[in-house]
Amino acid sequence: MIVLGIETSCDETAAAVVADTGRPSRPWEIRSSIVASQAAIHREWGGVVPELASRQHVRDICGVVEQALAEAHVTVGGCDAVAVTQGPGLVGSLLVGISFAKALAWHANRPLVPVHHLAGHIESLVLEEGEMPLPAVVLVVSGGHTSLYRIPSPGTYVLLGRTRDDAAGEAYDKVAKMLGLGYPGGPEVDRLAQSVNDRLVALPRTRLTHPDRNAPHLPGRRDFSFSGIKTAISRHVIGRREALNLGFGQALPAEEVAAVCASFQRVVVGTLVDRLFETAAEEGAKSVGIGGGVSANARLRRDATSRAAKTDLPLFLPSLALSTDNAAMIAAAGLRRYAAGVTADWSLNADASLRL
Ligand code: KG4
Ligand code: ZN
Repeated sequence: MIVLGIETSCDETAAAVVADTGRPSRPWEIRSSIVASQAAIHREWGGVVPELASRQHVRDICGVVEQALAEAHVTVGGCDAVAVTQGPGLVGSLLVGISFAKALAWHANRPLVPVHHLAGHIESLVLEEGEMPLPAVVLVVSGGHTSLYRIPSPGTYVLLGRTRDDAAGEAYDKVAKMLGLGYPGGPEVDRLAQSVNDRLVALPRTRLTHPDRNAPHLPGRRDFSFSGIKTAISRHVIGRREALNLGFGQALPAEEVAAVCASFQRVVVGTLVDRLFETAAEEGAKSVGIGGGVSANARLRRDATSRAAKTDLPLFLPSLALSTDNAAMIAAAGLRRYAAGVTADWSLNADASLRL
């Protein structure tokens, strides 16, 4: 089977062709994967502007899909199905991908397969390293989500905990903004944090002990919260600016910016790694994984790798190209769903807060 995947949930227009191999150790292979990033457009505004994102998707999608098909030497009619991200994400952006996928699938008389964006991030792990030993515990950590899932069987995702406020990637981006760094801030904070003492700024580490009133069915203590550390950094930055008498447009000294980045990263990565491995132990997991944009973070990869080695658990991490948004992961999750008999009819609609 071969599937064309389309992803437009945020600010990346992506298309990819993925085929199954018939080998359980490596069930899928990428024939092509094209990503047109809008980062340069949103950088000017310090974050994603939804209306600009939708309009840019409209401009880019034809070329991106054509290139993905051309590189894979296949036509839409030569694919078994068209998989598309149904949600969650920005509704206008999602609608561009869904409308385009519907038109292609209808024209080529192929089935349409709806995919949850986070299922895509999870399946990106399998795409590169083969099936995970199950049950697995996977942390999806991106600009919009920080969620822990238990995977008891292939294609089943059970939510164990999630952020009650900001996603980790969002906190990275907002801290970067406070420090006058560009968008997206995650990679920049990651870069500046390297080779700096990570204990120069005292920051709180949030631990939730009570259930969430909005989701009482979840244990609660496995949830995350990153708004407190964001506020602590905001206070620290305001305090330091006052102490140094800095005027509008004047940045903190570079070594102070780096110290804030390193301290912030120590707390955030420590929280993510601890929660992931504690949960894996409690759940009797046979493997652990980290997916989503923040999984590109150098310290997160390093700390999770050394913790996995200590606990003797296989750790699944996507390559850097597959950690941020792409369509290969959507095509892979689409292959899994299509094989399980899931297709959508032409009434398929975008769902900005789709549940997994
Ligand atoms: O998965 P993704 O591409 O989009 C969403 O689904 O949200 O994740 C984007 C997020 C952004 O917040 C970005 O700052 C963050 O991933 N990110 C990083 C790094 N690379 C990307 N955060 C920390 N360190 C990185 N190296
Ligand atoms: Zn994502």
